[in-house]
Amino acid sequence: MTPSSILKKTVMALTGLALVGFLIAHLSGNFLLFKGDKAFNAYAEFLEHQGGLLIAAEVGLLAVFLLHIYSAIRVTLENKAARPVPYETKQSGGTSTFGSRTMMISGAIILLFVILHVKMFKFTDHEHVDGELWGLVMQAFANPVIALAYMAAMVVLGLHLSHGFSSAFQTLGLTKPGWAKCYKKAGLVVGWLIAFGFFTMPLYGLVVKPKPGAKEHAPAKTIKHDENDDDASVFRPVLTEKGTVSWS
Ligand code: HEM
Repeated sequence: MTPSSILKKTVMALTGLALVGFLIAHLSGNFLLFKGDKAFNAYAEFLEHQGGLLIAAEVGLLAVFLLHIYSAIRVTLENKAARPVPYETKQSGGTSTFGSRTMMISGAIILLFVILHVKMFKFTDHEHVDGELWGLVMQAFANPVIALAYMAAMVVLGLHLSHGFSSAFQTLGLTKPGWAKCYKKAGLVVGWLIAFGFFTMPLYGLVVKPKPGAKEHAPAKTIKHDENDDDASVFRPVLTEKGTVSWS
């Protein structure tokens, strides 16, 4: 292997691990979808309020994505040129797996997914949608075609991550004899756990079809107080002399 191809493989491994880091952060935030519109929209607003910091993170993420794709294409082309007959067909009982043989195809599907996904959720106006960004996501997932396409894309993501994660550690030379099996298992667990986490979201939207406000603890609307009041059926917060709030 030439120094330049080692460099490209190293860039592919490091950017791949950085993208796994992004996915873990994105997944953690997205779990708030299950808490309802208020919690999720507050989280999205908090991110938006980071201003320049968020823009810098987004530019960095885009650069990492592009570097990952570029290095992956170059490494694949160089491998093909150096080895016109596929490695796995030459090896009896070779170590290649379905995941490792389909990395370029799964990568291309994920790229297409990300483009459509960002267009659908980041660059679509959600100001006038009931439930805002949360409502936009849940409306999309209530559509079986979108939800099933998302779930299929998450299976492809699991396949890509489960091989890519262990392969990155091997490229970075973080394997000692006997560790390879351990990384393979870790890759399988981490890759499929991340994919499964994302998978639950379109599944939830499709099956539960939650509505905005459903998880809020709205004040009881059954007890009437003042018949002359326009909307007397609702409890109102009253500031007491001690500075505490009581419901009247
Ligand atoms: C399936 C469950 C997923 C849900 C519900 C979801 C939800 C969202 C939402 C609501 C946004 C817009 C955030 C905003 O405007 O503040 C977003 C952005 C984004 N998502 Fe996802 N996402 C999911 C999976 C994924 C996956 C698997 C990937 C990558 C493979 C991904 C990559 C991105 C990227 C790159 C952005 C743009 C981030 C930014 O520029 O700030 N998402 N996602």
